[in-house]
Amino acid sequence: MKKRFLSTFALAGVAALTMAGCTTETGTTTDDSTGESTEETTTEAGGGDEAASDVITVGFAQTGAESGWRSANTESMQAAFSEENGFELIFNAADNDPAAQISAVRNFINQGVDAIVIAPVVEDGWDDVLQEAASAEIPVILEDRTVSASEDLYSSWVGLDFEAEGVKAGEWAAEQYGDTETKMVVLEGTTGSAPANDRAAGFSSAIEGTMIETIDSQTGDFTRDGGKSVMEGYIANYGVDGIDLVFAHNDDMGLGAIEAIEAAGAVPGEDIKIITIDAVKDGMQALVDGKINYIVECNPLLGDQAADLVKKVLAGEEVDKAYYVEDQAFDQAAAAEVIDSRPY
Ligand code: AHR
Repeated sequence: MKKRFLSTFALAGVAALTMAGCTTETGTTTDDSTGESTEETTTEAGGGDEAASDVITVGFAQTGAESGWRSANTESMQAAFSEENGFELIFNAADNDPAAQISAVRNFINQGVDAIVIAPVVEDGWDDVLQEAASAEIPVILEDRTVSASEDLYSSWVGLDFEAEGVKAGEWAAEQYGDTETKMVVLEGTTGSAPANDRAAGFSSAIEGTMIETIDSQTGDFTRDGGKSVMEGYIANYGVDGIDLVFAHNDDMGLGAIEAIEAAGAVPGEDIKIITIDAVKDGMQALVDGKINYIVECNPLLGDQAADLVKKVLAGEEVDKAYYVEDQAFDQAAAAEVIDSRPY
């Protein structure tokens, strides 16, 4: 770690880990320029000054904890950036708030971390803080979501092809429902986020020229509660008989929609078909149960690749700008076959 300003990192608690000399600290950081405070958790490898100098300090700016997918992604990152693997991880979850996330990244810069990893809440607004990281010579790796800023401002990205996910979902919809008049409502992810933008674009392109008509599209912010309340609004406006198909940008919103459909006395998966993206455990179970009709996977297990990229970049090795992880897709039969062996 280059430098650390303890004055801006007031430690609130210290808990001994099972490994001798390792500590987990939770504290509050304050961004001097904005005065904003955010919660951070630090897991640090111990073993004396000599060992500490080999440790790679990484600030990870996570979006928040909006979905089952996000929990699996956070676990994957924390496992990969562990002290056993030679890291000290400073973890910040921004509760889906773009300004709080940028502020967290600024705090990492002020703390002089060795590298910063970001899962950006939204695509826009990153230029200034990425420039600040570059000026401080702190490499930035993106995981999961992308940014609209220049590629020169970060070292690499690892994640999924969100547009291809939307295309896969849309192609299946077109094949199943494209020949009959189908009224579709969309539950969008967080406004301005890469997956919401790209999945919408991919799906729309795949259903072009079919008889699927988008009658409404609103954000449910990638949360189960958001999906439920937007779906309740759709049902109030169009009635259960006025909606044939839901395209939810993630499983959690689809699961919220199921609750709203059942509360309205209709049968999800039959009266109203549902297509989602993610393939987390709860979503896959709903697919096996026939309440969801099709799921396109979005693999959250990106930790090992992200940690590998950080090590390579810090070692001065050449890396590509983008690494795509493969996704699959599941109908009911395919989900039943794999559900017990899925790690998330
Ligand atoms: O960026 C990936 C998306 O973010 C996942 O599909 C969603 O569940 C999460 O919140």
